[in-house]
Formats: sequence, structure tokens, C-alpha cells
Amino acid sequence: MAKKKIVVAYSGGLDTSVMVKWLNDKYDAEIITATGNLGQRSELEGLEEKALKTGAVKAVIKDLREEFLTEYVWKALKAGALYEGVYPMACAIGRPLLAKMLVDIARQEGADAVSHGCTGKGNDQVRMEVGVQTLCPGLEIIAPLRDWEFKSREEEIDYAIKNNIPVKVTKSSPYSIDENLFGIAIECGVLEDPTVAPPEDAYQITTSPKNAPETPEAVTITFEKGVPVALNGQKLGAIELVEKLNLIGGRNGAGRMDQIENRVVGIKSREIYEAPAAVILHKAHNELEKLILDKETFRYKQDVANRVANLIYDGLWFSPLFDALMAFVDSTQETLSGDVKLELYKGGIKVLSRSSNYSLYSVELATYTDQDQFDHKSSGGFMKIYGLPYKTLTQVKQSASKKEVA
Ligand code: ARG
Repeated sequence: MAKKKIVVAYSGGLDTSVMVKWLNDKYDAEIITATGNLGQRSELEGLEEKALKTGAVKAVIKDLREEFLTEYVWKALKAGALYEGVYPMACAIGRPLLAKMLVDIARQEGADAVSHGCTGKGNDQVRMEVGVQTLCPGLEIIAPLRDWEFKSREEEIDYAIKNNIPVKVTKSSPYSIDENLFGIAIECGVLEDPTVAPPEDAYQITTSPKNAPETPEAVTITFEKGVPVALNGQKLGAIELVEKLNLIGGRNGAGRMDQIENRVVGIKSREIYEAPAAVILHKAHNELEKLILDKETFRYKQDVANRVANLIYDGLWFSPLFDALMAFVDSTQETLSGDVKLELYKGGIKVLSRSSNYSLYSVELATYTDQDQFDHKSSGGFMKIYGLPYKTLTQVKQSASKKEVA
């Protein structure tokens, strides 16, 4: 009988390295590792060799950066999706793409199962598994971290040493870090205590606002149909644009977040995020919407943003509601083109100017000078009609209470 084939989502870190060997032994299976490059800075070089040394028969590495930004991140940006109003969701947006990668490779390789290194209490297992189930209902999913015998990192390291698994046994960071182009999530260690402020060494890509330059830095972002296309007047591809913005924002201390959030499995967790490009882009995009969208569309879209954020966070990227809401979002972005100039200064992000050919802002209507074109007199009639229900209500209450007294 042919051996079982398992495609393993592989980062080359301790968990997924141990997984390759463990799955190999437990299922007597052929392991194919799959690694998606979403712009994490950790070494992708040498990863294939490492996977093969660990016992994989094949290692696939895919550069998904462009697809990640243009097909995934831009959607979340256009929607204005920030989980619980804050988190730009770098990890949450990346997972459905990784789930899709696992399914694609499993199909190509004729694999029986896919496997991931997510824990049993996180959100990522939900995103990976709901994604895989939706895209390929028959595919088996194995989540070793939920079932295996290792109780600690030390036990995994022992197992790795015993089995000649090449893992870097440097003094490991006290934090657990997940990273891609759209941001970094930092957990564990002292960060688990919500009364403790994050130590400076928790931050990976941002300068402390205290040490950031004394001179403010301005940056102009150009959007076309809701998507950023240029920085400071220079047209850039998605990858370069986000990388540059991460650098510019990072050196000015922008994009740090410290939040308590509600996980899908019901627990609250404390998360530190760094996402300079994401925070800057969301701020600029939102500013442009304030200028361009009509009042009702703008208000309605705020609700949609929240719904889309919850769907993404909860692992429902590949779902009918997500697609339907995105169709709404896309129709609002038809005119979302223009420039926003921001000033970055010691962690702060301030809007300096916004402009668009589709701007609904009219100086003639807004001005308090003699150039004013607004019809003040008509407002009198409007006030009478607009306030009528409430005026009536009070009148009725007053006459009813008089009747009661009588
Ligand atoms: N709480 C964040 C989220 O759910 C970050 C998750 C970080 N993931 C990780 N594997 N460390 O999106």
C-alpha cells in the first residue's frame, strides 16, 4: 500500500520541525513541507535543506507576498477592517492564504492530509482549518500540537536532540512572534501579565517613540480605487510600498499597539502588535473616505467594517457573507482615489492634507465668509420638520400628565 502523504505547514521553527519527525513516525507517512513567504524576516534560505534533513521527502517554498497584499490585505484595507477597532489583523489575513496554499499543494502532490502547528487555544487553528475544510472538504487535517505528548518547549527540544532534528538551540526569545509584511504579533513571557507595560525589547521593528527623531517626517500616500499605489508621488508595487512604509513608520515609532482582545475560543488575550504600514494606510484610507463618501454610505460602511473585521478574525474569509460584504465595499471604492499627506512624529500620526477629484467637500458650502453659498433660510423649515416628532412627543406627554392630574 502506498504510504500516507501529509503536507505540513512549515516555518522551520521548533514546533514545526518536531512535527515533521513526529508525523513521520506516528503515521509512517511521507512528509512534504510547505512554507509561504508572506514577508516574514526569518530566514527562508536554507529552509529546504533543513526540512529534508528533518525527514521531509520534499520541501515547497512559495513566494506569496504579492498575492498576500493584493488579494488579501488590500481587501481588509478597503473594508477598513480593524478587529475590536484596533488590530489590523496581519496574522488573521495571512492564514486563509496559507490554508489555500496547503490545499493547492495537497492537490498537486496527491496528499491525504494536511497538518499545521497551531495550538489548541489560538485563533490560527480556526482560520487554517475552516479555510482548508471550505476549500477542500475531503482533506484530512492533523493538528499535532493539540494531541501530542510534549508538555513544554524543553520536552520538544529533548525530542529534537534525540532525533537529530536541526533546531537552533540559541537562547530563545522570551516572546512568541508571528510576522508578515502587514505586521507583527508578539505574545508570551511578561506580556501575559496585563498590568505590566511591554518591555522595550518586545518590539521588533519600531523605534521607541521616545528615541524617534526630533524632526517630524511627512509622507504622502496616493490611492486609486481604495488601494495605495504611490508614496511621496512615486508609483510603487505593493511589496515595495508596504516595506517602505514599514521603515518610515517604524523609525518614527508609529504603529505600536497593546490590546486585550477576545479570541474565538472565548478567552481574552493580551497582544502587542507592531504594524507601522498597516496603521498608516488605514488612517490615510479612512481620511480619504471621510472626504469622498456621502454621509449615509460612510456611516453604513463603518458597520460593515466591523462585520468584515469579525469575519476575518473568526476565520470566515472564505464565506458567502464575506464575499457579499466585499462586493458592497468594492462599490464604495469606485471613487476612492486621491492623496493623503500625513505627518509622523514620535509615534503620532497626524493628517496634514487630503485631496481628491471626487471630494464632496465644498468650500462654498462650508465657509463662514461672505463667499458662503449655503441656504441658511431653508434651514429654518428643515428644523421645524426634523424636530417635529420630538416636539409632538413632548406635547403629548404634557397633555397626558395633565389629564392624569385632573
Ligand atoms: N491574536 C492575534 C490573532 O489572532 C495574533 C496571533 C498570533 N499568532 C501566533 N501564531 N503567534 O490574529
